[in-house]
Amino acid sequence: MAKVQENGAVEKPNKTPWDVSKALKNVRQHLGKGDKERKFSIDIAPAPSVTVNSSSLIGKVAVVTGSSRSTGAAIAKALGEQGANVVVNYLRSEQEASKVVQAVRAQGRGAVAIRADLSTVDGARHLVDESMRAFGKIDILVLNAGIMKHKPLAEIDEASFDAHMNFNVKVPLFLVKEAASYLPSPGGRVIFFSSSMTSSSAIVSNMLCFLASKGAIEQVARVLSKDLGNKGITVNTVSPGPLDTAQFREGKSQKWIDFFSKQSPSNRLGLPEDVAPLVAFLASPAAQWINGQNMRVNGGSVI
Ligand SMILES: NC(=O)c1ccc[n+]([C@@H]2O[C@H](COP(=O)([O-])OP(=O)(O)OC[C@H]3O[C@@H](n4cnc5c(N)ncnc54)[C@H](OP(=O)(O)O)[C@@H]3O)[C@@H](O)[C@H]2O)c1
Repeated sequence: MAKVQENGAVEKPNKTPWDVSKALKNVRQHLGKGDKERKFSIDIAPAPSVTVNSSSLIGKVAVVTGSSRSTGAAIAKALGEQGANVVVNYLRSEQEASKVVQAVRAQGRGAVAIRADLSTVDGARHLVDESMRAFGKIDILVLNAGIMKHKPLAEIDEASFDAHMNFNVKVPLFLVKEAASYLPSPGGRVIFFSSSMTSSSAIVSNMLCFLASKGAIEQVARVLSKDLGNKGITVNTVSPGPLDTAQFREGKSQKWIDFFSKQSPSNRLGLPEDVAPLVAFLASPAAQWINGQNMRVNGGSVI
């Protein structure tokens, strides 16, 4: 360690600084493979790679839930642009999914469309199994698919509450659980989706179930960032503001759309393409030290 001398000068260490990566490698070699190593490695985060290759995702495999349309489609293309091979998940929009696949392939990457209903945990398992079958690995998991229905308190029923909790919380969590053992350690990436509205004063009362479920997934992400962070896998949340997508427009009058547009100093709704670059960055090696964070991307509509 450097010492400060009486005259204020810093005395340089005469020894090579302790190299953590080298030390961990030595420890692992010493312990060898098997149960002994596995038990020991739980307490030690894998040594991070010190070379960060800008934002290149070449050779990586990304699974993006709900990527046949809207935000998910923009994310799939942005990841493809950075070099990733992409699994495009869809349920009903087969043709749109196929167009996204073509767009990613046109970037020179591999892409497949996988139909999986993510309102069930079985659907999540199916998506992980088929992604592994297609590419043999998963490096990046983007839990983009989500539902947002509008009901004021008086109209909330158990079915609506359960649907939000199931689709926005339970299935993404179990999807991560299914995929966790395949994610590279270190280097895996998990990116959840919430909403800037969870921290906005301008919330509207009929968003109760949606916001309750997004608040819950933010907490899931916080806890997982410790669990998986121990293995060098980062877990972050992206929280968009109002985005001009089918989901956002559903059931809203022009008056409400104008209200949400005016929340932004740019006086417009966000676009899927405003959000996708942040996801591509979080998926990149350059973001290896960003973990457990909730990043709002909303053009200043919620500050
Ligand atoms: N839009 C907003 O204003 C806004 C604001 C804050 C946060 N967010 C969050 O951002 C994320 C993306 O929002 P978005 O507006 O882009 O969503 P969206 O327009 O509703 O996304 C549609 C996508 O979800 C897929 N999907 C729907 N049900 C599915 C199911 N059961 N299984 C598999 N896929 C399914 C659709 O596939 P098919 O068409 O093939 O069925 C499509 O690819 C969500 O988590 C949302 O909560 C959105």
